[in-house]
Amino acid sequence: MCGIVGILGQNSAAPRLVESLRRLEYRGYDSAGIATLEHDGIVRVRAPGKLASLETALEPVRLTGTSGIGHTRWATHGAPNETNAHPHVAPGVAIVHNGIIENFRELKAELTGLGCEFESQTDTEIVAHLISEGLKDGRGPRHAVHAALKRLEGAFALAIMIEGYPDLLIGARKGSPLAVGHGENENYLGSDAIALAVMTNKVTYLEEGDWVVLSRQSVEIYDADGDPVDRTMQHTNASALLVDKGNHRHFMAKEIAEQPEVIGHTLAEYIDLAEGKVDLPDFPFGFENLERITITACGTAYYAGLAAKYWFERVARIPADVDIASEFRYREAPMVPGGLSIFVSQSGETADTLAALRYCQANHQNTLGIVNVRESTIARECEAIMPTFAGPEIGVASTKAFTCQLAVLACLAIGIARAKGTLSSTEETELVDALIGVPRHVAEILKEERHIEEIARTVAGSRDVLYLGRGISFPLALEGALKLKEISYIHAEGYAAGELKHGPIALIDESVPVIVIAPHDDLFDKTMSNMQEVAARGGKIILITDKQTAEKNGSTEFAQISVPVTNPFVNPMIYAVPVQLLAYHAAVFMGTDVDQPRNLAKSVTVE
Ligand code: M6R
Repeated sequence: MCGIVGILGQNSAAPRLVESLRRLEYRGYDSAGIATLEHDGIVRVRAPGKLASLETALEPVRLTGTSGIGHTRWATHGAPNETNAHPHVAPGVAIVHNGIIENFRELKAELTGLGCEFESQTDTEIVAHLISEGLKDGRGPRHAVHAALKRLEGAFALAIMIEGYPDLLIGARKGSPLAVGHGENENYLGSDAIALAVMTNKVTYLEEGDWVVLSRQSVEIYDADGDPVDRTMQHTNASALLVDKGNHRHFMAKEIAEQPEVIGHTLAEYIDLAEGKVDLPDFPFGFENLERITITACGTAYYAGLAAKYWFERVARIPADVDIASEFRYREAPMVPGGLSIFVSQSGETADTLAALRYCQANHQNTLGIVNVRESTIARECEAIMPTFAGPEIGVASTKAFTCQLAVLACLAIGIARAKGTLSSTEETELVDALIGVPRHVAEILKEERHIEEIARTVAGSRDVLYLGRGISFPLALEGALKLKEISYIHAEGYAAGELKHGPIALIDESVPVIVIAPHDDLFDKTMSNMQEVAARGGKIILITDKQTAEKNGSTEFAQISVPVTNPFVNPMIYAVPVQLLAYHAAVFMGTDVDQPRNLAKSVTVE
């Protein structure tokens, strides 16, 4: 859940380390640091807080070393201060680490017994000392590193620099991703291709247990046993990975605005536009005899899965279980072999979702990943993938990835329904037409942004906010609440509208905004009754509904946000957008750090 980078270059490494860290900040931003190999040894500069603090700390320091490592941190062990910031050092060694070393206490006790002194509270520092002890015992760098790796339990991606070896960097990966970048007389290490895109588009992804020895001219990869292995080098679209905010104030605003385009791209991958039919890739398994679907994910991706449950059950008539990955992975759920297990993940690196995938594989499920990062671990370990085409999502709050996940899941539900014979050709064309209309409708909603911003002003500053939805709008209520709380720090909860009277209605008074997501579907009247129950108790209602209903309501005592009238099948993608805009503008009014909210990281690669 941190970002790491390593450079063996021709010029001063420091500026490029910082530039790569800027692209990795989405993985964590509690503190940052770099170390370079200078004539008189390892020099490191670290600073708590965002990368800007590191840049300030670097201003008076002259670093000319051409090899270096860098790190941006999301704290797991130890407070986010300078002492706990990476790189960590031991005599002759500097390392950066993403992951958690689970047996660090035992190792620390052992190393302390050998006389090692520790300055931080991190798990990482012990790795530097383990290697350093190996060097002291007379081992060469690669043997010292390999011996240390064998002692580590847990998850790690490591970049290691050793004093006296200016043409050497060693990387290792177990449980956390690590890529090797190939340059002209230079080589690099990075948590992902985005970090390396400033230097190269030629990338090799290490596999589980791999470790790699880099010089400027060579890349040698070994497996966990120390045997040399070949891993394929890929060309990434580096220029596409070099993202900026364009004219937008925040990445989140840009990513919300990109939705018409990226939903369109995603749908175009899975729909035969000429035929008006869903056109799924060839899978190594069929759907005709499918009896059960399980969907596993975290956070926003989990809510996409929850919405898809309604599609799979209603349209494809297949029971679908949706689970939070961190719960599923330890629940020992019995699974009937041959079921379809779907894993939804923007990053494709979420540790719990990955563990759930491995559990399902061990339980003979067919595995399908819906991922935005095609080179990710989940993408590589699933039997089949249906990528989303959202492009890099940098804002910590997931927006365009969510609507693209929904687009893929909707196409999949139609495809499975066709295979199972639960959908006629005419019905399929109707649903596909509705999907094709989504980018246009989302673009129309974006034109209402100023109105939504005004309403957000009334939400900002609230202590609590409730979101209500029924049926397929219930997951949107959950998503709306998550979006608001993660970026504005306002406490928010999403409820199934029918659950309100079973407890949460006690929270309602004049100070509590209640955001009611009520498309005019078959449950509309029921949701309206719940809304009246809120109104009767003085709740401050914000109704999100379709234009026709809003016009019928006329001017009301409550605020209204209206969206185009669409086939109810596509409502989740439509109603997601005002919900995102509300959260975004409320957060801007609150003055929070929208793209990098406190305590969070974009990619959660630890448990
Ligand atoms: O990369 P993933 O989609 O697997 O990430 C899952 C969650 O961590 C993510 O959706 C998180 O909840 C976002 N911050 C929500 O905006």
